[in-house]
Amino acid sequence: MRRLLPAPGPLDDAALEDDAALEDDAALADAYRLPAGRSVRVNFVVSLDGAITVEGRSEGLGSLGDQRVFRLLRALADVVLVGHGTAAGEGYRPVAADSAVGRLRRELGRPPVAPIAVVSRRASLAPGDRLAVAPTLLVTCAAADPGRRAALAAAGVDVLVCGDDDVDLPTALDLLADRGLEQVLCEGGPSLLAAALEAGVVDELDLTLAPALVGGEARLLPGRLADVVRPRLVQLLEDDGVLLTRYAVGRSPTIRTTSP
Ligand SMILES: NC(=O)c1ccc[n+]([C@@H]2O[C@H](COP(=O)([O-])OP(=O)(O)OC[C@H]3O[C@@H](n4cnc5c(N)ncnc54)[C@H](OP(=O)(O)O)[C@@H]3O)[C@@H](O)[C@H]2O)c1
Repeated sequence: MRRLLPAPGPLDDAALEDDAALEDDAALADAYRLPAGRSVRVNFVVSLDGAITVEGRSEGLGSLGDQRVFRLLRALADVVLVGHGTAAGEGYRPVAADSAVGRLRRELGRPPVAPIAVVSRRASLAPGDRLAVAPTLLVTCAAADPGRRAALAAAGVDVLVCGDDDVDLPTALDLLADRGLEQVLCEGGPSLLAAALEAGVVDELDLTLAPALVGGEARLLPGRLADVVRPRLVQLLEDDGVLLTRYAVGRSPTIRTTSP
């Protein structure tokens, strides 16, 4: 893996075998670490023509480099925010302490587990779902079925009621921050990304550009935004033909990186 922007050069030892490179994530962590404080970072893998899935799953666009960044961003985050459609479609489960992410978190001096926060207007997370346990959070609204909310709370899910008829994302981020969950990694999907952009809460968009043309599948955004958003490229890595980008979004003049 090498950095093309802002300071071109190798990011890790190219002589390392793939497995060893997985262990050598210190330089990659420096490239993605954020200073303390609140932030919302969105991570997606996308094909050259804007598709986010192959046959309904993001897996078909994956690569070793993308998986490394995916794990690292989870390791650096306080909480993983995800729409219910993605959590259900991609088979989300809690981050385990003995998983690759858990081990990486420990290596980086972080608590081994980051909770998953599922966004669902209808509180669709089913009691009994493997995510419906502590420390999972459910980000929902008052219009969601009260019985469902109570059942999930009884199962150990931290239910955050953010708004009346719809989820108010700024309120959700405030409630997460109240729990010490300040650095938010949003893993989509497109409906949640659109809502987060419309709410103006996205600070950073990390797009992995997979060298693939797919056509006909779900796109990064489901419809037209009210205003065009113009992210600014602040970092570009390359790994085996895959481009790994960091874009600053919104009002922040630049991403507050800790890397050179
Ligand atoms: N390539 C990638 O990196 C990537 C990343 C993520 C997802 N994906 C793909 O995207 C697809 C899923 O798309 P999707 O649009 O269904 O995803 P989604 O945004 O994850 O899920 C939509 C559902 O999540 C809830 N939701 C999302 N935003 C909300 C908001 N602002 N307020 C309240 N509820 C909200 C709603 O659930 P309720 O109906 O329960 O209220 C909504 O029906 C999957 O195929 C997945 O593989 C790809």
